[in-house]
Amino acid sequence: MPDIGFVNGRFMPLAEALVPVEDRGYQFGDGVYEVVRTYRSAPFQLEAHLARLEQSAASIELPLQFRRSEWTAYVLEGIRLAEYTECKVYIQLTRGVAPRDHFFPASAAPTAVMTIREMRDLMPGLQAHGAQVIVVNDLRWGRCDIKSVNLLPNVMARQQAKEAGAFEAVLVRGGEVTEGAVSNVVIVRSGVLITPPTGPWILAGVTRAVVLDLARKEGIPVEERPVRVDELRAADEVFLTGTTVEILPVVRVDGTAIGKRCPGELTTLLRARFRTLVGC
Ligand code: PDD
Repeated sequence: MPDIGFVNGRFMPLAEALVPVEDRGYQFGDGVYEVVRTYRSAPFQLEAHLARLEQSAASIELPLQFRRSEWTAYVLEGIRLAEYTECKVYIQLTRGVAPRDHFFPASAAPTAVMTIREMRDLMPGLQAHGAQVIVVNDLRWGRCDIKSVNLLPNVMARQQAKEAGAFEAVLVRGGEVTEGAVSNVVIVRSGVLITPPTGPWILAGVTRAVVLDLARKEGIPVEERPVRVDELRAADEVFLTGTTVEILPVVRVDGTAIGKRCPGELTTLLRARFRTLVGC
């Protein structure tokens, strides 16, 4: 099977995977999700992603249908069925199917879906030459640590970036950088990695944690503290982290060059260490 779908414990070709229109994910955005990718056919940081999925679900009082060991088995089975060299696994949990009413339904069982598609590389040249970003007001709610399917502000911001010829929107709240629409943001200043702290305003990125760990192992100082937007613009280096972007150098913010307008020294070093870690 190429693209794989999974609905409540059953695998099928993706085109046959359907959920009813009264699913609360569809009508209310009442659900949470994860995106996991493979390297050399093995899911990267699956435990961390499943732990965050459990945390997100608990935060919205969504009961879990499957234990972590069951999800692990399902993810591995989906990757095996898909037969791609590298897969992108999307997992979504919602509060199930019920007549539309804001209250939690008394009896609906949660819906668990998964899709497994081929993991495609970013645009050619983007990793090598670096990306452009724009700064956009962060219009999201106060629990950005929950990986909720309510992504409208992220969708609007990313579209704005695309229309401006940029790859990502860096979100700013009260003059401080929170994160990207689909990534976390790290800046480098005088040899120090600086990134906004985890908390309600950002998603605690799995890649972010891996990269900060790699940096500490290299002896690079790391500060997790608020980053003002003027620090972003004046940084020596800027990069994004995320499952889909890995470590992506940023070379322009709102058209202004960052550093020497090419991937910086520490960004390049960390990218090399990351590649070694994932075995590619
Ligand atoms: N997004 N911040 C936001 C808002 C994100 O949506 C993501 C990932 C990240 C990076 O997290 P991680 O390193 O755990 O992938 C940070 C996924 C990939 C998405 O929505 O497609």
